[in-house]
Amino acid sequence: MNDNLDHAYRQALAEHLNEETEESLSRAYDLGRQALAADFGILDVLLLYDAAFRDAVLTASPAEQSVVALAITNFYREFLSPFEMSFRGYREANLELLRLNEVLATTNTELKQKQTQLIQAAKMASLGELVAGIAHEINNPLAFIISHLKTIEKCLSRARTELGTTVTVAAAELLDRAMNRLHESELGAQRIKHLVVKLRTFSRLDEGERKVVSMRESIQSVLTIVEHRCLGRIDILAEFGEPDLVDCYPSLINQAVMNLVANAMDAIHESGTIWLTTARDVGDFVITVADSGHGIPADLRDRVREPFFTTKPIGEGTGLGLSIAHSIVHKHGGTLDLAPRPGGGTVATIRFPLLSDVS
Ligand SMILES: Nc1ncnc2c1ncn2[C@@H]1O[C@H](COP(=O)(O)OP(=O)(O)OP(=O)(O)O)[C@@H](O)[C@H]1O
Ligand SMILES: [Mg+2]
Repeated sequence: MNDNLDHAYRQALAEHLNEETEESLSRAYDLGRQALAADFGILDVLLLYDAAFRDAVLTASPAEQSVVALAITNFYREFLSPFEMSFRGYREANLELLRLNEVLATTNTELKQKQTQLIQAAKMASLGELVAGIAHEINNPLAFIISHLKTIEKCLSRARTELGTTVTVAAAELLDRAMNRLHESELGAQRIKHLVVKLRTFSRLDEGERKVVSMRESIQSVLTIVEHRCLGRIDILAEFGEPDLVDCYPSLINQAVMNLVANAMDAIHESGTIWLTTARDVGDFVITVADSGHGIPADLRDRVREPFFTTKPIGEGTGLGLSIAHSIVHKHGGTLDLAPRPGGGTVATIRFPLLSDVS
């Protein structure tokens, strides 16, 4: 205790023991406030109490001891009141801090998610531009390669006819070989053409107009196109909920659903089931494509949406299906989620806000 406080304390306690009054108690309270401000701890107060007890109670006559002990206790009760109040204040402030901390943690998580989405969107946008450029550059020379291949084929078969029986065995073999290689080149060129189509869909998502369509009809048309790939092997169970009429870019949504169904089919090696549902969830339209396939290994879950990431053999997968679907859903202001399906397989969920109730 500093000297001033020490002096005031002793004096106040002596006065209080001499005559316990309202005033002497409020003096004790005031000293408690000063002690608290001077960084006094509870242990310091206990030491003072102990010393006062020894000095005053033990030296009092047996008849007075209990009166003195009570007076000292009253004095300290008042002396400790400011401490008690400040502890309550701490406790309340602590609770408020804990609450604010929770708010901060939630805001932080939301910010991180937004940041990831923004980075993803920016990445997609710049990749889209790059891909559009490459697709354009490939498309022109590819067009004349394909058309020239056809001309070469015609020329070769005409040459064969012109030569007729005069053709030597060696020349005939060379012509056959040229024809075979030509067919292989045509297959290769067609593959490049398909890739270019996918690349263009990936980059030119602004094509096609937004309109209100029947989701049942739209998705059923997709299923009609892809069903032949799995007849007798995979059951496709579709359940169309309300609303049916939805305002969207129909050709793009078809494309996204087609990519998800294609992935589901690829994931089922022998036989299995694909469940397709549409429904409203509060203000969102939700399409799910679930499969009983082999599922996505946990360590690949973050990577599968990356453009060009594929686990399929060369020539079978371009790794663009999910990134295209992701960009399409993003264009609708929505999200594409992939989660393990209880019981095995994957559930892909497209969710985007319904613009207005058009049904
Ligand atoms: N339903 C699914 N079940 C299991 N794995 C999946 C599923 N959907 C996607 N994947 C995994 O994600 C990878 C990327 O999928 P994505 O559709 O982007 O490309 P892809 O199917 O490989 O090729 P593409 O769609 O261009 O033909 C796949 O190679 C596959 O490993
Ligand atoms: Mg795919």
